[in-house]
Amino acid sequence: MNERIFLIGYRGCGKSTVGPILARNLGWDFVDMDPLIEQRAGKTIRQIFAESGESAFRRMEHDMLVELRELPRRVIATGGGAPVRYENSLIMRNRGFVAWLKASVETIWVRIQADATTTDRRPNLAGGGRKEIEDVLAKRLMVYESAAHFSLDVDGLFPEQAADRILEAWLSFSSSSKSSP
Ligand code: S3P
Repeated sequence: MNERIFLIGYRGCGKSTVGPILARNLGWDFVDMDPLIEQRAGKTIRQIFAESGESAFRRMEHDMLVELRELPRRVIATGGGAPVRYENSLIMRNRGFVAWLKASVETIWVRIQADATTTDRRPNLAGGGRKEIEDVLAKRLMVYESAAHFSLDVDGLFPEQAADRILEAWLSFSSSSKSSP
């Protein structure tokens, strides 16, 4: 049950950068859900939203989580909206350790602006820009909070430091779950 770590958090919080480092340190595989969904669909997420609607994308996201929950020894970077569907949060909590990479609006904004490729591939969720981050993040804080076993403030941390901190938290979570009846 503990041989899976799900990384959750808003776009730009570092899931896809920290995930491979964490997986390498554990000797596990890394899975990035968004590129995998894009690869299978043969389209970017922006295209999926435009052609089939957000609900179609959310179904694909859910189906992929159902598939991934069976695979052991995986660090899984989830899309920023994945835990919003309560069932997805439950899958992650029941099948692994959920770590929330918590970044400030400022950090997210700076990183998203610097990442033109991802911007091309991701749809706007609420009008775009810094205001979108503020609005969507405010709505999601409780969702991330209740889905996560562990949260980490990543502002000012190097990805290696974030990966180390998550590994420590996972080790302590795993040893306490083993000793509980
Ligand atoms: C989304 C975040 C994106 C992607 C999709 C929807 C969201 O993932 O799944 O565009 O609702 O926050 P990243 O967090 O990997 O950018």
